[in-house]
Amino acid sequence: MYARIAGTGSYLPSRVVSNADLERLVDTSDEWIHSRTGIRQRHMAAEGETTGDLAFHAATAALQAAGVEAAEIDLIVLGTTTPDLIFPSTACLLQHRLGANGCAAFDVNAACSGFVYALGVANAMVRGGQSKKALVVGAETLTRMLDWGDRSTCVLFGDGAGAVVLEPSEEPGIITTKLHADGGYKHLLYNPVGVSVGFKPGEDNAGVRVLMSGSEVFKVAVKTLDRIVGETLEAAGMHESQVDWLIPHQANLRIIEATAKRLGLPMERVIVTVDRHGNTSSGSVPLALDEAVRSGRVQRGQNLLLEAFGGGFTWASALIRY
Ligand code: ACO
Repeated sequence: MYARIAGTGSYLPSRVVSNADLERLVDTSDEWIHSRTGIRQRHMAAEGETTGDLAFHAATAALQAAGVEAAEIDLIVLGTTTPDLIFPSTACLLQHRLGANGCAAFDVNAACSGFVYALGVANAMVRGGQSKKALVVGAETLTRMLDWGDRSTCVLFGDGAGAVVLEPSEEPGIITTKLHADGGYKHLLYNPVGVSVGFKPGEDNAGVRVLMSGSEVFKVAVKTLDRIVGETLEAAGMHESQVDWLIPHQANLRIIEATAKRLGLPMERVIVTVDRHGNTSSGSVPLALDEAVRSGRVQRGQNLLLEAFGGGFTWASALIRY
């Protein structure tokens, strides 16, 4: 038994913030941001618009594409590092809003690898017979935890969400998923605020920000993604040439190009959204997937290689016959 993707959906908040808008906030330029990252613009959630709101719109679109009613869903796994609340999980809030009450629902926090991790978990549950209709979501409002005075991070991120519905199938489907982490790299990319280390009430969330050693993250990401795409193809018994589409985490165009080169794939066979979305963390891979499906580029029967890398470090991949 395999799990197959029955439908995809995504959602971007309506407000667009261009590089020129950021030039008015910090000492940066469209030329610097575009040449180092490939980013031209990103979407930003409106005041009061939450990760759960973005997830709801993406999930509704995925359910519609799959022809599945919310009441049929028996599992929700949601990747996020920017939950609406500490608890209940954003998956529980989404479940109630969709009207899927009673099914299993939980969040996965694997930073930018959140969606691919969630997909790996849901895939195992569908293959194991524990779910017949699983909703997998990646949703983030990363712009809520940025220091808007720090040019080294605030230009990189955006908000957005994507979702897929999985169902059992005798044919693949998801061929293999690989999930990894190495907590020894925490110091290179993290947010120092947490419950157990102690909030600082009255400081207006001053500590809630992404701290990142950009060039070190870059180097480890390129090497690690190089390794995981090799490992994934080997596990599936497939050759690079059998990959129809690379659907990578959208953090930096130069990291994406390095992975494509490793696979021998021309950029025409790589889904790129980072120019318009920025890095939407857990939202990035399912947003790119949904855009590729809806534009008609990704077709049924094609082989898709999804990969992601994020804080933790975490890294993950999925090889899918769509
Ligand atoms: N505008 C103008 N100049 C800037 C900006 C900016 N926005 N940001 C930094 N600079 C300056 C720096 O101060 C530095 O100046 P200096 O040489 O005078 O000291 C110079 O640009 C070069 O800085 P670097 O950090 O070395 O630049 P680099 O080429 O490495 O690019 C970047 C930085 C874009 C952050 C890159 O390292 C990167 O993309 N890293 C990976 C980030 C990533 O992938 N994160 C993914 C995971 S995110 C998650 O999990 C939440």
